[in-house]
Amino acid sequence: MPKSTGTGVDPMSADFIIRPARELDTSAVHSIELEQFSHPWPLQQFHRELILPFSRFLIAETLPVSRIAGFSITWVIPPTAEIHNIAIKGEYQGRGLGRKLLTAVLDSLAGEVDEVYLEVRTSNRKAISLYESAGFSCAGLRKDYYENPPEDAWVYHLRLDQK
Ligand SMILES: CC(C)(COP(=O)(O)OP(=O)(O)OC[C@H]1O[C@@H](n2cnc3c(N)ncnc32)[C@H](O)[C@@H]1OP(=O)(O)O)[C@@H](O)C(=O)NCCC(=O)NCCS
Repeated sequence: MPKSTGTGVDPMSADFIIRPARELDTSAVHSIELEQFSHPWPLQQFHRELILPFSRFLIAETLPVSRIAGFSITWVIPPTAEIHNIAIKGEYQGRGLGRKLLTAVLDSLAGEVDEVYLEVRTSNRKAISLYESAGFSCAGLRKDYYENPPEDAWVYHLRLDQK
């Protein structure tokens, strides 16, 4: 029997598409935010990201049964972009979906911005490994950048023409 998530989608056999977020996605996105971050954004912030003209809000969705498996939010203000948030729901992690989503974000930025920045908790080995393998390099440290728990952030940087 395939492993079931109780949602009717076996995470080991689902396919995924990456698409722009819609209003109806926000509560599922917020559930992932609550599951994956110790200092989560409020639901209202996700509604706001849908209307900010410079925000690129992408969804990773399972197929053939539609479930929200992850999301990313990037502020695109040429000549730079900043990835503010990227997360994959726990049951879908470790299957290449985070990399697929990050690649989609970077592909969407090609020709539009020269540089991409992001911050990451210094203890977040998974995310750091993903970013470094995508070509990002460490550009500095922001002391006490995070709350709950307090932690420094590494600033990571990618020049898109170096990809
Ligand atoms: C970081 C995150 C998006 C990665 O998504 P994912 O779907 O699990 O990652 P993938 O399966 O695509 O793996 C991509 C890379 O991430 C890294 N990675 C994934 N799981 C890892 C683990 N358990 N330990 C170390 N590195 C890991 C590896 O570099 C991996 O590449 P590889 O498979 O070639 O070794 C996901 O773990 C997540 O949502 N974490 C919580 C939210 C978060 O911390 N977001 C980042 C905020 S800055």
